[in-house]
Amino acid sequence: MKMTRIIAAAVAALGLAATAHAAGDGKKPEHHHWHHAGPFGTFDRDAVQRGFQIYTEVCSSCHGLAFLSFRNLGEEGGPFYGYIPDGDDHGGHHVQAVNANDNPIVMQIAANWRFPVVEIDPETGDPIERAPRASDRFPGPFPNDAAARASNGGALPPDLSLIVKARSHGADYLRSLMLGYSDEIPEDVNIAPGQYYNEYFPGGAIAMPPQLIEGLVEYSDGTEATVEQMAEDITVFLAWAADPHMEARKRMGAMVLIFLFLFAVVLYLAYRQVWANVKH
Ligand code: HEC
Repeated sequence: MKMTRIIAAAVAALGLAATAHAAGDGKKPEHHHWHHAGPFGTFDRDAVQRGFQIYTEVCSSCHGLAFLSFRNLGEEGGPFYGYIPDGDDHGGHHVQAVNANDNPIVMQIAANWRFPVVEIDPETGDPIERAPRASDRFPGPFPNDAAARASNGGALPPDLSLIVKARSHGADYLRSLMLGYSDEIPEDVNIAPGQYYNEYFPGGAIAMPPQLIEGLVEYSDGTEATVEQMAEDITVFLAWAADPHMEARKRMGAMVLIFLFLFAVVLYLAYRQVWANVKH
């Protein structure tokens, strides 16, 4: 008798949890295979470059990338590391490690960035604008959160530097969110004017219009810009942006493990040697 009651209570609790999930959390993101996943995974550098193109041409008009500097693009592990257009007859790129601040591609990206760096004139105290340099952080589209909300119907487009780390299911969530818009709105979801239905967004009503449409960008590497491709590429770029030194970190981890293993072997041999002539 008692047991049936406990089971009934458990079933009821599970049922409640399931409805809460449906209304509040958004659908579980679709699992996707990422080249950068796992202890030895590395970023697909071409995908990071393509994703950066999407960020530049599309997302940067609403979202900042405040924790990233232009030079990060040219550092080891970054999408433009060590690339110098060589200008000789053979075409292609001459690969040479350079200081990221002197990397010509990075310098060009910074100089042509769509938003200026705002500084205070030391003489007058007035704000002055200048073109960014490779050593600067990415200037964002809005001077402050209030201005960002005012331009987006009251909703705040979050900074994207760490978004992949800040959301559970990280990269899978971001990719699903990009692909998750739909016109079939369930009855229990209320979509206010200026909102859109996205099944992966908690609550379902998101203030960001659908972004990815077929052929939105023309990829400079010639890849076909399908919606799926763009969702994957922007996600890979933002995963890199959230952890630009991931590859170095993983390499160091592997080296430490190899070292510990070899050290354990040496210790064992030393132990055998020390106790070789002792009865124990
Ligand atoms: C027209 C402005 C605009 C553009 C362009 C735009 N967004 Fe947004 N984005 C928003 C707004 C506004 C929100 C806040 C939505 C909300 O809170 O309902 C948002 C929210 C987000 C979020 C946060 C979702 C969450 O879980 O909180 C992500 C991630 C995001 N955008 C990614 C992107 C990406 C990637 C691009 C480029 C492909 C992009 N956005 C382009 C306006 C924009």
